[in-house]
Amino acid sequence: MRVLFATAEAWPLAKTGGLGDVAFGLTRALAELGCDVRLLMPAYPGAAEQLDGPVRRRQVQRPGEPVALIEGRLPGTAVGVWLLDDPPLFARVGGPYGTARGDAWPDNHWRFCRLSQVAAALAAGDLLDWRADVLHGNDWQTALAPVFLRGRADRPATVFGIHNLAYRGLFPGEFYPRLGLPPELWSPEGLEFFGQVAFIKGSLVFADTLVTVSPTYAREIQTPAFGWGLEGLLHHRRDRLYGIVNGIDTDTWNPGRDPHLAACYDRPDDRARAANRRAVARAVGLDAGDGPVLGFVGRLVEQKGVDLILAALPRLLANGAQLAFLGSGEHRLEAALRAAAEQYPGQVGVVIGYDEALAHQIEAGSDLFLMPSRFEPCGLNQLYSLRYGTPPVVYPTGGLADTVVDVDADPHGGNGFHLAALAGAALAAAVERALVHWQDRSAWQAIQARGMAGAYSWTASAQAYQELYRLSARGRGS
Ligand code: ADP
Ligand code: GLC
Repeated sequence: MRVLFATAEAWPLAKTGGLGDVAFGLTRALAELGCDVRLLMPAYPGAAEQLDGPVRRRQVQRPGEPVALIEGRLPGTAVGVWLLDDPPLFARVGGPYGTARGDAWPDNHWRFCRLSQVAAALAAGDLLDWRADVLHGNDWQTALAPVFLRGRADRPATVFGIHNLAYRGLFPGEFYPRLGLPPELWSPEGLEFFGQVAFIKGSLVFADTLVTVSPTYAREIQTPAFGWGLEGLLHHRRDRLYGIVNGIDTDTWNPGRDPHLAACYDRPDDRARAANRRAVARAVGLDAGDGPVLGFVGRLVEQKGVDLILAALPRLLANGAQLAFLGSGEHRLEAALRAAAEQYPGQVGVVIGYDEALAHQIEAGSDLFLMPSRFEPCGLNQLYSLRYGTPPVVYPTGGLADTVVDVDADPHGGNGFHLAALAGAALAAAVERALVHWQDRSAWQAIQARGMAGAYSWTASAQAYQELYRLSARGRGS
């Protein structure tokens, strides 16, 4: 099975969130299962330098539009990588999608239309002497690829991964004629979405198979509350819509051998946790203490419910807790967190920015991991926290509902705590329930041990993807 995995990010080359982790972990696991999987991503600054060798640049002459690809391997894996080397579009200082200040690049429609176009051409065998049986695109940035393959008898099957429906790749309708897309697709049945062009529809309408990152989210996105206006289309395509829960890369996220930790451990261990807790306290600026530390790591956007944590803050602090936050994103949420740290010095510690080492430390050095997301397609942070023996406190939506079992609802199988509602008071109540168990060290260690023992490796999910590829290749276009 030959698979082209097209993505806008892949750890460690480029990452802003979970898609980067999935691109690495899933392709690596697929390669280990014997799949000939290649990854296509833009050549952002610094990405080529991290590839494993041999690294070479290939210039492909296409009528009117040469394509340059940098070829290598994903670090530490057998996964072949092609970086689309188009410096005017991708060699920019800043993030994959915008400036360092967080403003979207004004030509994102061009940048990712181009990525989709090259993904289609590569997968169809137009560029190199390799062609794919399956093109697996991910999120709106590669969603136009099936449009470019439409009507070709020799095309590969197309699978589209929905990691977050909130990002639909919406651009002004005036852009449409300039994108080289078929004029007849400018309609609500095609790529139009209330007068705008929605890149994601390129795949929601035209991909053979749709797959999202948890079974619950696959159901939720067929409803108005989670569908962002696309619920009707997704419901219409429900026979081709699957949910496969993400795995985690158990080498990168292994508390027994994690170079970022002050102390490693492979079973619940209060002494290691105390050392890691001290490291977190130093890094984010918390006073020494022996109350529980509540950790948060994530993109600071509405989705993640940081505002609920802030609403619950007085009650959490009254319970003797300290809070450690790491994140970056919307300016208003960054400012609100900074203000909380100023209001409660030594009790609330905040680091604004992207810091991989600190993310690992917070997973290991907190007593509870807070993740009150309003919606969560899968979520990886709760899986990391389970594996690190830090029970997560979550709102049971999407992948959080599929991976976190409430301890009070299931005393023998529970691994975390559910909020009863999306509100600060409900978060405080869930934390208070958790702290009752936390006081009892041996009961707590049993909860930690259950989380740590959970099977989160990519192997099972990669097998499910392989099955999906087979199914799609067989039923292509039907
Ligand atoms: P999402 O993809 O919606 O951001 P996930 O939980 O699936 O949520 O994945 C988030 C990933 O990004 C995790 O690997 C998390 O550790 C990482 N991450 C998010 N924000 C930061 C940050 N500020 N610093 C370091 N890592 C971060
Ligand atoms: C998205 C989602 C997150 C998911 C990740 C990887 O960014 O918000 O829930 O885990 O993609 O699939």
